[in-house]
Amino acid sequence: MTVIATESLSKRYPRVTALDRLTVDVTPGVTGLVGANGAGKSTLIKILLGLSPATEGRARVLGLDVATDGAEIRGLVGYMPEHDCLPPDVSATEFVVHMARMSGLPPTAARERTADTLRHVGLYEERYRPMGGYSTGMKQRVKLAQALVHDPKLVLLDEPTNGLDPAGRDEMLGLIRRVHTDFGISVLVTSHLLGELERTSDHIVVIDGGKLLRASSTSEFTQATASLAVEVTDREHDLLAMLDAAGLTVQASGHLLLVDIADDGTYDLVRDAVAQLGVGLARMEQRRHRIAELFTDETDETDETDAGDGAGTTPAAAGTAQEGDGRDAA
Ligand SMILES: Nc1ncnc2c1ncn2[C@@H]1O[C@H](COP(=O)(O)OP(=O)(O)OP(=O)(O)O)[C@@H](O)[C@H]1O
Ligand SMILES: [Mg+2]
Repeated sequence: MTVIATESLSKRYPRVTALDRLTVDVTPGVTGLVGANGAGKSTLIKILLGLSPATEGRARVLGLDVATDGAEIRGLVGYMPEHDCLPPDVSATEFVVHMARMSGLPPTAARERTADTLRHVGLYEERYRPMGGYSTGMKQRVKLAQALVHDPKLVLLDEPTNGLDPAGRDEMLGLIRRVHTDFGISVLVTSHLLGELERTSDHIVVIDGGKLLRASSTSEFTQATASLAVEVTDREHDLLAMLDAAGLTVQASGHLLLVDIADDGTYDLVRDAVAQLGVGLARMEQRRHRIAELFTDETDETDETDAGDGAGTTPAAAGTAQEGDGRDAA
């Protein structure tokens, strides 16, 4: 079953191609849509909501056609826009009740659902104060609450961690994960940070310049290039040469050797080589690449083929430049 399916979807503005023949299927669960600024993430979301027509191609959301069933889609889907859109002089409670009523809930249900949803996103006494005085974190929570209040089947969250400090980001990502685990709602969440979505998402879709770069499950992304971190008490250069001679791909990283795991035999080759050298084996552990690392490699290649296209930004550039929190996905 797919919740979102696009077929050769394009959106062209007079000066920019925002989406370029994008074909992708999104399955139930949490899906991260990753791309640098201008990659086309918000454009895709607006098309999926039936708010902006595609120039070419087709898209279905929960089986409905975005070109003809926009109103029905918006009844079943929750949307958290990327920009600040909250009226400053009403409270979170008033605003979310209003949004619930707009989605067709009767007054009593709207009030009850609003109280539940605001509690779920972690707004308590503050919910009666005008939103103009809220912090960015509180505003993002209200935006999430209004996307959830009518109990949608799917939510489209456009950069929900924007403007949050690291602790606020972690809380927001935890909330998003629970939207799926607690309520079974599927989530499409965008970010320009590869690293943060890898812990939250079951699947990752990466777009760049409106084109699909890659789509797969998060574990496939990181497992595909699993490596073995090997630390020996001495003679790591000799070990590197031996493993290299045995046909393994090995990189030195400080004291560590990172060995690409070809198959189960890789472990035996490392063990035998270490034994032959007669040194101590201080560590041998499997590591998963972080998604951002994969893209650093991949964009190096793309840069060569796409030289001169002038796009400038890449997901890897955005992901690695701004994250820098040193998390280890081992
Ligand atoms: N209404 C519009 N008219 C003209 N060009 C547009 C319009 N909306 C978006 N674009 C262009 O389309 C491209 C994709 O924009 P989009 O907002 O979808 O990117 P994004 O991935 O959401 O970026 P960001 O991370 O900055 O939010 C950009 O080059 C943008 O300038
Ligand atoms: Mg955007």
